[in-house]
Amino acid sequence: MPSSLIDFRDWSQSDLQKIFDVSFALEKDSSKALPLGEKTAALIFFEASTRTRVSFEQACFREGIRPSLMIGKASTSLEKGETYLDTILNVAAMGPDVLVVRCGYELNLHTVAQKISRPILNAGWGVTSHPTQALLDIRTLLKQGLKYSEMKLLIVGDVRHSRVASSHFELAEKMGYEIAVCCPESFAPQKNVKRFSTLQEGMEWANSIMVLRFQFERHVQKADRAENFEDFRIGLKELRAWKNQGWLMHPGPVNYGVELKLDVEQYQNNLILKQVESGVWIRRACLHQVLGSK
Ligand code: CP
Repeated sequence: MPSSLIDFRDWSQSDLQKIFDVSFALEKDSSKALPLGEKTAALIFFEASTRTRVSFEQACFREGIRPSLMIGKASTSLEKGETYLDTILNVAAMGPDVLVVRCGYELNLHTVAQKISRPILNAGWGVTSHPTQALLDIRTLLKQGLKYSEMKLLIVGDVRHSRVASSHFELAEKMGYEIAVCCPESFAPQKNVKRFSTLQEGMEWANSIMVLRFQFERHVQKADRAENFEDFRIGLKELRAWKNQGWLMHPGPVNYGVELKLDVEQYQNNLILKQVESGVWIRRACLHQVLGSK
């Protein structure tokens, strides 16, 4: 089992299955898990976050782990010119048992992992990867009773600038679920994956849809922006007409009216808040895996 979760490269299918199994076992009966108390975690979020940060914090509390939080640049010595790498090395030197890190391109998490002797859990790294998000998405579908071989996940929206999509491309290969994308050219991924040019074709194929946020903060040039997204924007009308009546997901935060219509709240198979619930179980399971107590 790899000591850190930065992406899925070094994780085998059985390692990943263990995370799902532990997450379900914890949900069924947390009292059977070996306690992680006495351990400490450093939660370092250089980029904004609500779901990932709070759910890691909740996961720590539930496991008896004491977290220390570092959020944003303000009131840290980054303001005085310290580098991001030095910041992490200094926090690691204080001896937390695990580091949970969200960052952009100012850091390479693989390089960080080579320099410190502590496990790292990637909480979202640039457009590179967001592994715990992909895990919690798939856990949400497993919880609905879908098997990997039955999952046909259509990713709609800003795929090109999404670390969630990148992690799903990796995880789908490991776990054997099918994935396809549906988006305008400017949002198409660099990777060669199944792509539908119309929402209608994509929805006909899919039994689950993941809509992705427009990653405005990563649109550095005009070519990054979506033109004519109207044809891809899903609302209650499109969902009610969907013959498969499948699952609707979004990793959040949702920009209603931009990538998704507000009325999807009324769709009976909307799993968006269920994903958030799954996030705490997956992050608890990840803490168990990297801290060596199953
Ligand atoms: N899905 C996700 O990573 O949300 P946050 O940015 O709020 O953590």
